[in-house]
Amino acid sequence: MPASPDNSTNVAEAARRIRQGHLVAFPTETVYGLGANAFDAEAVARIFEVKRRPTFDPLIVHIGSVEQLPDIVESIPDSVYVLAAAAWPGPLTLVLPRKLIIPDLVTAGLPGVGIRLPAHPLALDLIRQAGCPIAAPSANLFGGISPTTAQHVRDSLGNAVPVILDGGPCEVGVESTVLSLMGEPVVLRPGGFPIESIIDTIGPVGRAVPNPEAPNAAQPSPGMLSRHYAPRTPLFLVNMGADAHPVPGLSCGLLTWGLQTASAGFAEIVRLSADENLRTCAARLFAGLRTLDSAGLDAIIAHRFPDMGLGIALNDRLQRASGTVAEIPALQISEK
Ligand code: TXA
Ligand code: MG
Repeated sequence: MPASPDNSTNVAEAARRIRQGHLVAFPTETVYGLGANAFDAEAVARIFEVKRRPTFDPLIVHIGSVEQLPDIVESIPDSVYVLAAAAWPGPLTLVLPRKLIIPDLVTAGLPGVGIRLPAHPLALDLIRQAGCPIAAPSANLFGGISPTTAQHVRDSLGNAVPVILDGGPCEVGVESTVLSLMGEPVVLRPGGFPIESIIDTIGPVGRAVPNPEAPNAAQPSPGMLSRHYAPRTPLFLVNMGADAHPVPGLSCGLLTWGLQTASAGFAEIVRLSADENLRTCAARLFAGLRTLDSAGLDAIIAHRFPDMGLGIALNDRLQRASGTVAEIPALQISEK
């Protein structure tokens, strides 16, 4: 295996590596993934090793077409086809009863397997050419900021991943929404597919809440860990519409989503979207956090987003980046 990451490696070569049990980092429309053949437990184990990820955190299995579902899933509720028509290819992961062909390591021993059909053409090409579903978490060290460019993957995982397919910056920029269909539908993680769109498609859904007794232990979905997606610099949140002020005596950075906010006294400012477009904010959030995290600041102060659409996922990521337990916004229908 070559020692350095190779940008120009083509999809056919990457697919061959997946078939041989190696790892490949690849772009999706949400974030870059670190992929392995989902049927190969040894290859999947290497993902956990490289990411330094605890094995209680299950992986999403990426498929290239809806026809692959019966290979992986024991039973397919009708709602899957309705949701697939609305969301796939795209940023929605469905947790469905797994077949035993899926190694325990992929699901962390859970009875459900998370599945999604990604929208990025390189991801789809890779899965189709590999001829197997691809298990892939985000291609970053566990707990860190998810990568939205090939360079972010290199910065985070370096030579541990010799093949990184470069598909440019990710369009969506936050991870997929995770919806469990193991019983009544429950959103396990807000993400790139708005919860409102799920409700429009299948009706009311529950929202899983973190276990407050043990916010850093296993959760209904381990993506609910209270500290996750986190920069090394301490991050503090300010409510929408409130003025942010730097802490006297500290070098502070400001992460804000529009132009409206006062920013006097901040050493570094990242404005995610001039016209307050949540899509633009989502596409830029993780890169913005990285920029501020590498600016040698004492603290980052970030404005919360409106609790609607993609704003729900953005607030969830900011909250976890700050290491505090997120409140579930009022949109929730019921707590499961
Ligand atoms: O957009 C995405 O979802 C990206 C791209 C690469 O597809 N992937 C991603 O994977 O964010 P990861 O591993 O960083 O986060 C997956 C989340 C985790 O919080 C995990 O707990 C949850 O999905 N998840 C996966 N399989 C699950 C399962 N069987 N049951 C419950 N939660 C599951
Ligand atoms: Mg992740």
